[in-house]
Amino acid sequence: MPWKAIGIFDSGVGGLTVLKEIITVLPQEDTIYFGDTARVPYGTKSPETVTRYSLEIASFLVKRDIKLLVVACNTASACALDALQSMLPIPVVGVIEPGARRAAAVTRSGKVGVIGTEGTIRSSAYAKAIKRINPEVEVVTRACPLFVPLAEEGWTDNEVARLTARSYLSGLREQGVDTLVLGCTHYPILKKVIGEVMGDGVTLVDSAEETARTVAGILQAKDLLRPSSERGNHHYFVSDVPGAFVRVGERFLGQRFWEVRQVSLAGQDEAAPSHLDIDPLKGDVQQVRLDAERN
Ligand code: DGL
Repeated sequence: MPWKAIGIFDSGVGGLTVLKEIITVLPQEDTIYFGDTARVPYGTKSPETVTRYSLEIASFLVKRDIKLLVVACNTASACALDALQSMLPIPVVGVIEPGARRAAAVTRSGKVGVIGTEGTIRSSAYAKAIKRINPEVEVVTRACPLFVPLAEEGWTDNEVARLTARSYLSGLREQGVDTLVLGCTHYPILKKVIGEVMGDGVTLVDSAEETARTVAGILQAKDLLRPSSERGNHHYFVSDVPGAFVRVGERFLGQRFWEVRQVSLAGQDEAAPSHLDIDPLKGDVQQVRLDAERN
């Protein structure tokens, strides 16, 4: 059982920020990453749709015999975590609870800001989780949808990023939050600009870092950690052609991919390229030579 891989999924490329932290904390572990690049974004979709997509992906990953599932996408964690936890026979870790726990622990003023996609903010999942831990904490939220394309475009330290951050965040700063939860996979990429706008007195909580620590704790408690002398292998699957995932993903992950495979999931057939003859969920994949993709 300890030799099985950790499964991790996201709506696309953003979950690689969570994977990066998991690799840092648990370099000995094998991982299987799924990015639903054919159906991204999740942040603007209904909870029902996000839950359906999440269950399809979980089914694909569980068939690959994983020992634990990480829901790296904040929107999917907000909408689908309960459904995933009740349907899967393995531990399922979302990013909301770890981020909420950290925010409740570090706030001194008792006023916490949370930023995320429209779907995550609309769900109130962070506010509910923080209040479950400490009902006294006041939570102020703000959806920041433009941060996602900025991070993917690599516009993380220029005037556009600064202007966008100022218009989204000045209200939160004026309301006196002393802690800000980065409640979206992409926001750690914009940490520098977000930190500048919020100022030195505000602690940024990175849900990705907290989630990696939570995963390590669960595996340790269940005696599922691989020996620390090992070095893990990392496998990548996406639902659309991998070109853009590779280009943006290598920047998010901070390392090169060896191989990214395209796979078709049940229910997503209409989105699959017609030239692919792939059985849903049978694990048939289109292997892509990355050198060709990069050129
Ligand atoms: N991964 C999503 C999240 O963390 C952001 C991108 C999307 O909207 O799908 O909420």
